[in-house]
Amino acid sequence: MFRGSFVKHSMTVSAALMVMALGLVTNSTIAVAAEENSGAVAGDIEAGKAAYKKCATCHSVAPGQNRLGPSLYDVVGRKAGGLEGFKYSDAMTQSDVIWTAETLDRHLADIKGFIPGNRMAQLYPAGVPDAQDRANIIAYLITLTDE
Ligand code: HEC
Repeated sequence: MFRGSFVKHSMTVSAALMVMALGLVTNSTIAVAAEENSGAVAGDIEAGKAAYKKCATCHSVAPGQNRLGPSLYDVVGRKAGGLEGFKYSDAMTQSDVIWTAETLDRHLADIKGFIPGNRMAQLYPAGVPDAQDRANIIAYLITLTDE
């Protein structure tokens, strides 16, 4: 399977291999997709705000307001499972993930696999399969801070 995609995408796969070698991405399909879209994956804040509706059922963007999930106000830079006052799964609090554009992308692309056993995986297993959709949502999340 890998050889087949090498023939079709010899340029992007070698770039993807470099990314994998750096340990940034463990899934070649995601790496290839990201590489092919590298120009397009810049997020659009307005589109992200609209797409955030699918998160808003569980995640308020107001500081300290927790629903089924924790508030995502100021989430970038937060340690996963690090918001005081929200009862996370052990999987989330015991992970050593810090939320950045990259880790948010990986979590939303692979809700079950990136932090195995986290509770969002049971409630929202599909995650956000579309890379552009993820980039837009992340661009919006980055704005949720007073700093
Ligand atoms: C059906 C409810 C639900 C939906 C919809 C949902 N989440 Fe979650 N999310 C959760 C729960 C519950 C947790 C806490 C998981 C745990 O403790 O294991 C969580 C955790 C998170 C975290 C970790 C936060 C932290 O403080 O460490 C991020 C980031 C996140 N969600 C982003 C999103 C985004 C972005 C969307 C929309 C694309 C979304 N979620 C949609 C329920 C949901």
